[in-house]
Amino acid sequence: MAYFVWAQDMVIDGGAIDEEHKKLVDLLNTLHDATSQGRGREVVGKLLGELIVDTADHLRNEEAAMAAAGFPNLERHKIGHQAFVDELHKLQQRYQQGSISVAAQLSSVLRDWLSLHIRRNDKELHDFLRQQQRGPAQTRR
Ligand SMILES: [Fe+2]
Ligand SMILES: [Fe+2]
Repeated sequence: MAYFVWAQDMVIDGGAIDEEHKKLVDLLNTLHDATSQGRGREVVGKLLGELIVDTADHLRNEEAAMAAAGFPNLERHKIGHQAFVDELHKLQQRYQQGSISVAAQLSSVLRDWLSLHIRRNDKELHDFLRQQQRGPAQTRR
C-alpha cells in the first residue's frame, strides 16, 4: 500500500486540478520511499525541492482557476495556501541545516495537509462548480 493513496472523494474539477493533486501524491510517495529506504541527502534533498516547487506551482494554478471561475472564497483560500508554503519553506531550511529526519517529518506534514486541504477546502471549489452547473435548473423549481 502506498504511503498516500489518491481517492475518489478528492475529486475537485475532474481536470487539471485533479491531475496536479495526483502528481503531488505520486511525488510525495516517491519522497517517502526515498526517506524510508534511507537514501542519501542528495536524492532526498532533490525530491524535497521538487515537491516544494510543484506544490507552490499547484497552489498558484489553483488560485488562478478559482479566480477564473469566480470562486467567492478565494481570499480566504489564498491565506491558507500562503501559510502552508511558509511552513514548507521553514522545514526545507531545517533540512538544509542538517536534520535528515526533517524529510520524513515533511512527508507526513504534506500528506496530512494535502489530504485535509483537498477534502475540506478545495472541496468548496468542487461544490461551487457544481452549483454553477446546476444554476439554471435551480431557478426553475
Ligand atoms: Fe489543491
Ligand atoms: Fe487549495
